[in-house]
Amino acid sequence: MKIELSDKLKSFPPFLFEELYRKEKAERAKGRDIISLAVGDPDLPTDRRIVNCALQEIKKAPNHRYPNTKGNENLRREIAAWHGRRHGLKFHPNDEISILIGSKEGIAHLPFVVMNPGDYCLVPDPTYPTYRTGVILSGGRIHNVPLEEKNGFLPDLGKIPARVLAKTKLFFLNYPNNPTGAGATLAFYKDLVKWARRHGVIIAQDAAYCDMYFGKPAPSILQAPGARDVAVEFYSASKTYCMAGWRIGWVVGNSKLVCALNQLKENIDSGPFNAIQNAVAFGLKHHEEIVPPVREHFKRRADKFCAVLRSCGWRFTCPGGSCFVWARPPVNCASLEAVYFMLGKASILTAPGSGFGRYGEGYVRFSLTEPDARLDEALKRLKALDWARFK
Ligand SMILES: Cc1ncc(COP(=O)(O)O)c(C=O)c1O
Repeated sequence: MKIELSDKLKSFPPFLFEELYRKEKAERAKGRDIISLAVGDPDLPTDRRIVNCALQEIKKAPNHRYPNTKGNENLRREIAAWHGRRHGLKFHPNDEISILIGSKEGIAHLPFVVMNPGDYCLVPDPTYPTYRTGVILSGGRIHNVPLEEKNGFLPDLGKIPARVLAKTKLFFLNYPNNPTGAGATLAFYKDLVKWARRHGVIIAQDAAYCDMYFGKPAPSILQAPGARDVAVEFYSASKTYCMAGWRIGWVVGNSKLVCALNQLKENIDSGPFNAIQNAVAFGLKHHEEIVPPVREHFKRRADKFCAVLRSCGWRFTCPGGSCFVWARPPVNCASLEAVYFMLGKASILTAPGSGFGRYGEGYVRFSLTEPDARLDEALKRLKALDWARFK
């Protein structure tokens, strides 16, 4: 039998990072010592205390049963307490917080609970690719909103066409931003929330990098007055606690949206393993001891990397957070050409800006998630790279 896959599936472009993994593997198979700075997968291990907590939790038989989709009470209470300490906000653990199998899962599912065919979703350009997934599957339409360096990689809301705005249901954003490394201020969120309320647009702010800030602590959109009427925020343990492989995150904010997402998920999954949920609860309880050294580590890497890149003629705005440097090469060229040049001449794999959207063209994203010695070696190779030989 010839298996015919769905039109929707066929309409998906290959997931950028999977393509990059394949490329890296193929080059390594040729015996080359490739340094991959393409994917944002933290190299630092999960804090030993979190791992020890998980080991204890795994031994407890009640944890071996199905979890509750919404997440266990212990974790939801710790999340509420953490948001109280960090943002001065109170959330009801029952209907304003829901646990996710990684924030990517919730991000992909959210459009299903709000979008009808033909509705628009505003997606930043350049973007984290998963914002498109649920929109495509729910029959929605995507309108790309440019993030330009001259605007600090913030969207220019006035430039969104009125005909699109009239049919817009949802707007995905993420700050500190992947891929540009830009931060957003509370003043920006206040204006955004006012705008969203005026136009009836739901805001999904993705705070996956909320703890990777290099200056003032990254604010939450939910600190803006009235935000709870229109917004949810996604959080991830992947970067904050270096727990990318454990697959856990959460959504917080507007209770109707949080409960609707949970209702959808009850029909799809049963939430993450309770032992992992309790390990994250431990992480949140000890957040102020565990997280600052991780943040400092990434800041040191970013400072060092930026200094060398600058001396080699790369052009960029220093990141305000995240684990990325988003930069234009010393010569004007297409992103992919620059990526292949570095791969061919320096055995360094990076992510082409064009893979994140049209407005990413001309940029390259460096991910600083390799061990320090490998990053130093990458810098050595970048210094030795002669862009005069670029054709
Ligand atoms: C902006 C952004 N949001 C969400 C995610 C997904 O995070 P998680 O591991 O929680 O699914 C990533 C992962 O790289 C990301 O870059």
